Amino acid sequence: MLTAARNEMLTRVGPGTPMGELLRRYWQPIAGASELDGNPIKTVRLMGEDLVLYRDRGGRYGLIDRHCPHRRADMAYGWVEDTGIRCSYHGWLVDQAGHCLEQPYEDTTSPKPSKSGCETKAYPVKECAGLLFAYLGPLPAPELPVWEPFTWRNGFREIVLADVPCNWFQCQENSIDPVHFEWMHDNWGARLRGADANVAPKHLKLKFEAFDHGFVYKRVREGQSEEDRYWTVGRVALWPNGFYLGSHFEWRVPVDDENTLSVAWFFMRVPKGREPYVQERVPTWVSPLKDETGRFITSHVINQDIVAWAGQGRIADRTKEHLRSSDIGITMMRGRFFEELDAMAAGKEPGGIIRSANEAQCIALPNMARELNTDGLTLADFDKDPILRQRLKEFRHHYGQPPEVRRAFVEAMGISG
Ligand code: FES
Ligand SMILES: [Fe+2]
Repeated sequence: MLTAARNEMLTRVGPGTPMGELLRRYWQPIAGASELDGNPIKTVRLMGEDLVLYRDRGGRYGLIDRHCPHRRADMAYGWVEDTGIRCSYHGWLVDQAGHCLEQPYEDTTSPKPSKSGCETKAYPVKECAGLLFAYLGPLPAPELPVWEPFTWRNGFREIVLADVPCNWFQCQENSIDPVHFEWMHDNWGARLRGADANVAPKHLKLKFEAFDHGFVYKRVREGQSEEDRYWTVGRVALWPNGFYLGSHFEWRVPVDDENTLSVAWFFMRVPKGREPYVQERVPTWVSPLKDETGRFITSHVINQDIVAWAGQGRIADRTKEHLRSSDIGITMMRGRFFEELDAMAAGKEPGGIIRSANEAQCIALPNMARELNTDGLTLADFDKDPILRQRLKEFRHHYGQPPEVRRAFVEAMGISG
């Protein structure tokens, strides 16, 4: 249980709030690069700030104030040029650093018009593994962490976004909540398919360990032992707002206090015999969350998670909860946020930030499925593993995979549709 004041501290993300300032110290995934292939301009709202993301004709990414520095028109209705983005109202041209490059009327009528003071808000953007990451904190920006899976080859990658109608922190608490797998995904999943009993293997033992880039959680369920990778390796609640499950990442990126952008990145190694495989473009798609009746879609794993997150309310009221031993990881994670917020208030840099370019190049994380992704399997091996067999059959993580993404996946894997 938390006091209302402590709950506010964890959940408020606008500029100037303690948590908002903490999260701004980390690169945040905000879009798929392929989203800009059609329209090179996308509106984004991040931690309460309205911005536009664009790729100019020179291939540079920009993330700037949604409103023009001239008289505040909407830059989303502008257009990109060789360098920068131009406002459609009076033609001011702005670049990715926020400099105003052109003011057409002034440039025509004054011999040397000064543009100083007309800069607009601008944040750095970097592309990695098909994702676009933005940094909204004080400069100089730290290094963008290149997690090891971003360096894997011979895989089919896809990015799935979802607009989740609740605060980011309850989504992130789900990253350190092993017991929900038994109930939400196994038992409820089975009930949704018509089962009439709770038959999922029970959790018998949990362990949570802190490391630089978050927490690892470990578990033993009925039918497993401490020799199992779920116990020897475990899964990662990635600091500060991610989740890493071996072949995919999920991030809970705050849009504002009451909305979150779920960004998930998936990797599937192509079977042996299909290599070398080079994916030219990482597809990005948006998973719909509700059906035509307005009810949440419950058929897919992350859609189920979202039912839980949104069900806790726009901002979960943690003054009314009852934490038990299944929630030790949640208590640890909150405790670490409070420590980091104190450290930042004392002028220190929060943890897990990388300043060395070398160190950032390929960061390994605990991974139960590493060899599957680095060494590969034959198609026959896929068939022997129930989870992998299922993965080839259909995309179970998010509802609504577009047919063209399925076709590209089938083609990459060398299987029939
Ligand atoms: S408002 Fe954008 S150029 Fe005038
Ligand atoms: Fe889940």
